[in-house]
Amino acid sequence: MTPKYIWLAHFVGLFMTCILSQDCNLLKVHLSTVTWQNLKILNEMSNSIPIECLREIQDFKLPKEIQPEKTSIKYIFYEMFTQAINIFSQNTSNSTWDKEQLVQFQNKLYEQIEYLQQCLNKENKEKEDMKEVKADEKEHSGAEVLWQSQLKLRRYFSRIYNFLKDKKYSRCAWEIVRVEIRRCFHYFETFTKS
Ligand SMILES: *[C@@H]1O[C@H](CO)[C@@H](O)[C@H](O)[C@H]1NC(C)=O
Ligand SMILES: *[C@@H]1O[C@H](CO)[C@@H](O)[C@H](O)[C@H]1NC(C)=O
Repeated sequence: MTPKYIWLAHFVGLFMTCILSQDCNLLKVHLSTVTWQNLKILNEMSNSIPIECLREIQDFKLPKEIQPEKTSIKYIFYEMFTQAINIFSQNTSNSTWDKEQLVQFQNKLYEQIEYLQQCLNKENKEKEDMKEVKADEKEHSGAEVLWQSQLKLRRYFSRIYNFLKDKKYSRCAWEIVRVEIRRCFHYFETFTKS
């Protein structure tokens, strides 16, 4: 490609991201697309877990009791992406991953966190404008369920975090964590379809 085309491809890419990132109505489509892109990068970073690492595999107990619905999905994804970026901001010098792919993955997560933040702010502002702050029983119980889910998700990620720390950020630990995060993203991606 000549520089001109590279520039053009880059521009179109930016343009698409821009359109998507502004529209919170397309939230599920957007989350689905980006999660697939993230899964693809995680796949490309490495193959399956190396044989010598298999005995270190641990059950992190992915909280499958969390089944996000239409209203809670952005909160759950926000939590998941924030926790994932915390994990992948740890020292990866022992991993065998390509630096560029790792940075690409991190940037996608940051982008998503920003996008979700913007949608959450917008929603909260709309609620405020409509003075919808009445003590609705149903909404209240929904908030409680959401809070419990966020807590479970945080505990799940702290198990992963502790594992990495215990294993001194070894190559095996990173491979196991990569596969676990992939599993987690895959699980929650299914809820963008409903
Ligand atoms: C990661 O750890 C290695 C080895 O301990 C060290 O040399 C490197 O500076 C650390 N990198 C970061 C980003 O902390
Ligand atoms: C990398 O692995 C070695 C050996 O397992 C460990 O001693 C070291 O702390 C690890 N490096 C980092 C940056 O954690």
